[in-house]
Amino acid sequence: MALLIKFLLFLSLFVLNEAINPPTAVLDLSEKFLDVKDEGMWFVEFYAPWCAHCKRLHPVWDQVGHALADSDLPIRVGKVDCTRFTLVANKLGIQGYPTIIFFRNGHTIDYRGGRDKESLISFAKRCAAPIIESVKENELEKLKLSARTQPSFVFFGESTGPLFDAFNEAANSKFSVARFYSIAPKDASFRPRVVVLKDNAEVEFNQKDISDLTNWVARERWPGFVQASSSNLAEIGASGKLVVLVVSSETQKFNTTSPIHHFHKIAEEASKEIRKMPEVWDRFQFAWLDGPDLASQIQMATVSEPHLFIFNYTSYEYYLSEDEPSQMTVKSIVTLLKQNAESIDKGTVIALGVPGRHLLTRVKRMAFELYWNVAQMFATQPLLSSCLFGVPIAFLSIICYSICSADFTVDRDEFYGEDEEEEEELIDEEEGEETDHVDTEDDHEKAD
Ligand SMILES: *[C@@H]1O[C@H](CO)[C@@H](O)[C@H](O)[C@H]1NC(C)=O
Ligand SMILES: *[C@@H]1O[C@H](CO)[C@@H](O)[C@H](O)[C@H]1NC(C)=O
Repeated sequence: MALLIKFLLFLSLFVLNEAINPPTAVLDLSEKFLDVKDEGMWFVEFYAPWCAHCKRLHPVWDQVGHALADSDLPIRVGKVDCTRFTLVANKLGIQGYPTIIFFRNGHTIDYRGGRDKESLISFAKRCAAPIIESVKENELEKLKLSARTQPSFVFFGESTGPLFDAFNEAANSKFSVARFYSIAPKDASFRPRVVVLKDNAEVEFNQKDISDLTNWVARERWPGFVQASSSNLAEIGASGKLVVLVVSSETQKFNTTSPIHHFHKIAEEASKEIRKMPEVWDRFQFAWLDGPDLASQIQMATVSEPHLFIFNYTSYEYYLSEDEPSQMTVKSIVTLLKQNAESIDKGTVIALGVPGRHLLTRVKRMAFELYWNVAQMFATQPLLSSCLFGVPIAFLSIICYSICSADFTVDRDEFYGEDEEEEEELIDEEEGEETDHVDTEDDHEKAD
């Protein structure tokens, strides 16, 4: 029956491939997709025929189609050639290829993970799961255990009323990043409430402003001391909290004699400590970085681990502590955060780092990143980098040297060689004057 419906859908809505194409579980979608995308669940790849990544994805995508067709989930898998159906690409704001989007009753979730079959299928299954899973009261302990790795949001109470509606709304907009459960307690006098389970603890949503619940979920969706990297820092920053970035090191994290280990522990303790202080907890999210690269790029300066700074992802500003990391304690970190929050409110704190969106800053940042990457190359691959940069530089130097040492300046002395003493040969002109004495003696007087 399901197959028949699928077939009818296929016939009525989609451009049929020519019969020579092998059967596939992936639907070739056309502009008509825009009419049906809000109905049910779709998992769609947007591609361009010339894109190499798309070509590599196609066989995987076919497998994903088959796997999801075999599962009993009501997910339809499709693909859209964006060069043919540009209207679809424009309407959905497709920027690059391939773009993979899950559509769930009009809500969209962009896929950003690896392009292998397993990741894609598990993502689709997660997206298709009931948004709010109803569990029994005695299953709470099991939930708490699984929430150690991924925070879970739990609604306690009957599934009615404004708080539940707000919870439902939050779950609808955040279901791809967190898990939502509801527990209907047997005890009727139970007070409806929403909590987040994470890090072996429970934090309750303060119900003063119920409409803030979705934002609260965004703020609380990360574990208390999460590992940050360039791929998730933007999302952590989008939580609306300032990020307390701890520069640590994966390899030294468990080395009990290393100062990095010691510092990592202190920071972790501090991240737990602030749970008891709502005014601090609401504003700061702890995260740690493996190695100093990202921190150095943010600060545009060389950072060495261990290190701690407060970072505002929105403005790319950061705040440093006056204390050396080696002097910091749990207490001093908590005090630092409190003071930082207060002075931001008063406007007395001076943020370091220029807001990252200006053109000049971007150019500066690019220059720094170039410098940083070259420096990193030398640090990690000294020999190779030396050859890579050394050989051209050596050639350049030789060329420069030759140019400089061969003197082309027009120097009069050189041009003429040695001073030629102008030996003016004085030729004595001996002019022999022949004076013809013509005696004209006309004394021939004829005297008579
Ligand atoms: C980050 O900086 C921007 C701009 O100065 C500000 O509007 C925003 O509130 C700051 N974010 C946090 C979490 O304080
Ligand atoms: C552990 O830390 C110490 C002190 O910094 C260091 O000398 C040692 O090499 C580290 N051990 C490992 C396995 O990295």
